[in-house]
Amino acid sequence: MITIIVGGQYGDEGKGKIISYLAINDNPEIIARGGVGPNAGHQVYYKGKAYGLRLVPCGFVNEKSRLLIGAGVFVDPDVLLKELEMIGAKDRFGIDFRAGLITKEHIERDIASENSKKIGTTKTGCGPAVSDRVNRVGKTVSDCPELKRYLTDVPKEVNAAKKVLVEGTQAFMLSNLYGTYPFVTSKDVSASTIAADVGLGPTKIDEVIMVIKSYTTRVGNGPLKDEISVEEAKKRNMQEYGTVSGRPRRTSLDLHFDDLKNAAMINGATQIAITKIDIKFPGNEHVKEYNKLTKEARDFIEKTEKSIGVPITIIGTGPDASDIVDRRSRKRL
Ligand code: IMP
Ligand code: MG
Repeated sequence: MITIIVGGQYGDEGKGKIISYLAINDNPEIIARGGVGPNAGHQVYYKGKAYGLRLVPCGFVNEKSRLLIGAGVFVDPDVLLKELEMIGAKDRFGIDFRAGLITKEHIERDIASENSKKIGTTKTGCGPAVSDRVNRVGKTVSDCPELKRYLTDVPKEVNAAKKVLVEGTQAFMLSNLYGTYPFVTSKDVSASTIAADVGLGPTKIDEVIMVIKSYTTRVGNGPLKDEISVEEAKKRNMQEYGTVSGRPRRTSLDLHFDDLKNAAMINGATQIAITKIDIKFPGNEHVKEYNKLTKEARDFIEKTEKSIGVPITIIGTGPDASDIVDRRSRKRL
């Protein structure tokens, strides 16, 4: 059983929380990360502690799962080694020997570039590292002695396993191919590319869960429909700050159904997970059963899944990995 998790909006949908729930609940042998690199910031709340992870898979909360980073991911060794130290997962961690390396020089280039300023990048060196790889002058993790003990063949491992959870990062509207180009990240991040990042062919994928948040946020520049002010977002308890950059996120009250339908189509989404129902509709905090959600929240969920045409099977009702309504037994609309 191979499941890919992807973001359906502009990132920060709450993928970290959904992944940590699935890691604990479904008990995958392997949790493998695709996507761009340390420009991602996944927040995981587990046993009362908050973790902000940029490279190590959020599924680390299941202590039995092996944690892998795929060949398509770009790795900053400083960020990675600190995270491994923090979560204490060195003995069950591996990284594909072909993965790209982010150097100090890439970060400096990202900070100094006028175009990076225009786009509002995370300044983590991802774009310059991807561009060096495209130009075939980039380094790989095999060139970094500190990473040697972690090198492995990720495609061989994931293709041999029975149950794998694949973590995507960033999100559809930030995809270099399908997002709001040029205000996008440096790679495609739709499910097919996330699969390729870890070495899984299209026929191997069983489920694609697209994660969306009950309202829309975007960090960095580029278009955002129906944007509201910081004051208004604060009033509604929706004002968020970027995990990596600390920048205030821009907010739009609504879901953009045309974009979400397109995202579901190109990702081949088989299920949708929706987060922060408790923020959009107060009174739903920590609810774990569908029937216990308020009518307003249920109406919104039903309208959303009908508009997108994909069933909402997982509903987030709070920050902890266990604040979830899981309706995966109900697979169809
Ligand atoms: P870059 O990926 O750092 O080059 O930044 C390009 C754009 O993508 C900027 O608008 C960033 O804010 C945005 N971005 C990149 N990664 C993430 C993410 O994980 N969450 C939210 N926004 C992101
Ligand atoms: Mg994030």
